[in-house]
Amino acid sequence: MKKIALTGIKPTGAPHIGNYLGAIQPALELAKTHDALYFIADYHALTTVKDRSLLKEQIYSLAATWLASGLDPEKVTFYRQSDIPEVFELTWILSCMTSKGLLNRAHAYKAAVDANTEAGVDPDSGVDCGLFYYPILMAADILLFSCHVVPVGQDQKQHLEITRDIAQAFNQTFGKVLTLPEPLIQENVKTIPGIDGRKMSKSYKNEIPLFTTPKNLKKRINQIVTDSKEVNEPKDPDKCNLFSIYSHFAPADAIVETRNRYLSGGLGYGELKSELFDLVDAFVAEGRSRYDELMADRKQIDQILKEGAEKARSIAKPLLQKVRESIGVQ
Ligand code: TRP
Repeated sequence: MKKIALTGIKPTGAPHIGNYLGAIQPALELAKTHDALYFIADYHALTTVKDRSLLKEQIYSLAATWLASGLDPEKVTFYRQSDIPEVFELTWILSCMTSKGLLNRAHAYKAAVDANTEAGVDPDSGVDCGLFYYPILMAADILLFSCHVVPVGQDQKQHLEITRDIAQAFNQTFGKVLTLPEPLIQENVKTIPGIDGRKMSKSYKNEIPLFTTPKNLKKRINQIVTDSKEVNEPKDPDKCNLFSIYSHFAPADAIVETRNRYLSGGLGYGELKSELFDLVDAFVAEGRSRYDELMADRKQIDQILKEGAEKARSIAKPLLQKVRESIGVQ
């Protein structure tokens, strides 16, 4: 029997090439050897996105991105969290197994409290209960599907620890019903710098979007920050984020040649940006046309997510039934 892999992605903005190389591509690789369940964590996004049309748009955009990146809904159970009511019932049950202190120590909540304390305002100012409960909802996402591995970024490690703590507390009280998941933190995964050289991230606003128009892509690549060395001056490839981004896309021999041209002088940043544009544009071209096609026919996306939800619920229902029986409400 194959092991089960599950992960959720929040629809909080257009996915960028860092998300693709760091999360989407490795998850699709993992799906070749695992029974994979990948879902759109739209109710997690509700903690930050409070704009109806924006949320709707971002859900479609994220779904289209996964499908255009090669997710095959026949092989991967692909669904939307909000389509699975069992998740929310389990969230409540788990909340009764979770000590409040555990959530007080969760990074996102603690960071909000620390910032408020620093600012001299009420520690819980501006914090809604959704942010506080976030880790329990995530535990329910995971435990409902008895999965073995959860591929996530380093920033989600604590959430996995909390999930395991909650599962253990449940199992100790009611018997071994829940499966303890392992985080799969891909250490060797590609982290790609953004246009300013820091890690590519929506929160730094330094991202290069994945499926955007060629015109936009070109504009963004031209915004990559470099020093002001002239064409003929020798340059240091190891201190240049343009070179670093380029080396994620160029073939090995081209990287060697470009490195030499950096060191010897004679290569201008403008020339390399134009070469990088051609590489990235070719890399995304096929996915982009599929993405555009899906975004123009959203019924197709609805249908795929609907079928995915049915598959997911056929796994979720029996587990929830077992949970209900074990706690005595059934
Ligand atoms: N919290 C995750 C993030 O911000 C998203 C997420 C929600 C998730 N539910 C999950 C990830 C379940 C893995 C498993 O990236």
